[in-house]
Amino acid sequence: MRPVEVKKDIYWVGAVDYDIRNFHHYSRSPEGSTYNAYLVKDKKNVLFDTVNAHEFDELVKHISEIIDPESIDYIVCNHLEQDHSGALPRIVRLCKPEKIFCSPMGLKSMTNIYDTTGWPIEVVKDGDRIEIGKRHVTFLETRMLHWPDSMVSYIEEDRVLISNDAFGQNIACPQRFADECTHEQLLTAMKGYYYNIVLPYSANVLKTIARVTEMGLAIDVIAPDHGVIFRTPEDVAFVLNSYKDFAAQKPMKRAVVVYESMWGGTAKMASAVADGFEAADVPCTLINLQTCHCSDVMTAMADASAVVFGSATRNNMPMANMMACLANMKGLRPLNRVGGAFGTYGWSGEAPKMIAQALADMKFDLPAEPLKCYFNPGADDLAACRRLGEDVAAALKAKCGE
Ligand code: FEO
Repeated sequence: MRPVEVKKDIYWVGAVDYDIRNFHHYSRSPEGSTYNAYLVKDKKNVLFDTVNAHEFDELVKHISEIIDPESIDYIVCNHLEQDHSGALPRIVRLCKPEKIFCSPMGLKSMTNIYDTTGWPIEVVKDGDRIEIGKRHVTFLETRMLHWPDSMVSYIEEDRVLISNDAFGQNIACPQRFADECTHEQLLTAMKGYYYNIVLPYSANVLKTIARVTEMGLAIDVIAPDHGVIFRTPEDVAFVLNSYKDFAAQKPMKRAVVVYESMWGGTAKMASAVADGFEAADVPCTLINLQTCHCSDVMTAMADASAVVFGSATRNNMPMANMMACLANMKGLRPLNRVGGAFGTYGWSGEAPKMIAQALADMKFDLPAEPLKCYFNPGADDLAACRRLGEDVAAALKAKCGE
């Protein structure tokens, strides 16, 4: 990769990580990811964010193609999570910046994660504005979008919003701009990213977009720290509208059946539940937790408001991957969902009830009783599974206003 000019004297200098498949150790990233950093050449040369520690050389290589890294005057740390700050200590040593800007909570993270002795840190608050030459940069705190320290940087004269994690996508590709990709490709990546990282902060997303609109900030470019950059009016509108849609979590007429089977009985039940959805004309996909990751379930939920979970009972509880899937989902706080629970058992069969309770705790609508079946489902059991699918489908359709 080479550095890429985003606007005159504003460059992408980040790194493309084609290898990463386990983003932050909690979400699959089947398309890899990027750590975007931006360099602005002005009276003060400013580096916005860095990259993951292992991409330090790539960052320095890109900066060096534009300016001598030692001529960087300011570093802006919009967020201290290590995918953006991992290279910071070595960059600070190399560049010896005059100032390092971060939010008040960023200071707390920075001094906790790194030995910042002697670092020229300057804390900026929401709305603070600095001059860097011909340009002015305004900092807007975006607390809990998605960390307490998160902020974004707005370059006034160029109408560029460096948005850090907001509006990101896990994509590794040679393209740097959204207009070089299809919206379909981008939507898939944006949904996976949003549903596994940003979802619990959906209210903050809507608040932030409303605030930017109220402030009348003209935005030509949204430059996130992951994925491609949005630089056309169509693409800026596309990403903002997509985020509004994701945050609203309006009911979507699709279903997912998530299951974990021990000896195949629960898998048969899952298939019959899916048949019930199909009979009710609700498209349904199956996710087997023995082969898929819990982040795949969240990604699927970006298109599906009905989710039915099935697990065999093992040692009086759902199987381990199902427990992990439910715990992961609870933290991500999905809204407006319809669900159901089922599973086979050999001894006692507590799993479906426990799953149903977990879903009730997440405020799922549960139109049918949890369904359990002894070991190997027979014709009557499978018919009951199909009815479960149909019942959940009917509740979903009602939720969708049909
Ligand atoms: Fe991309 Fe919250 O780090």
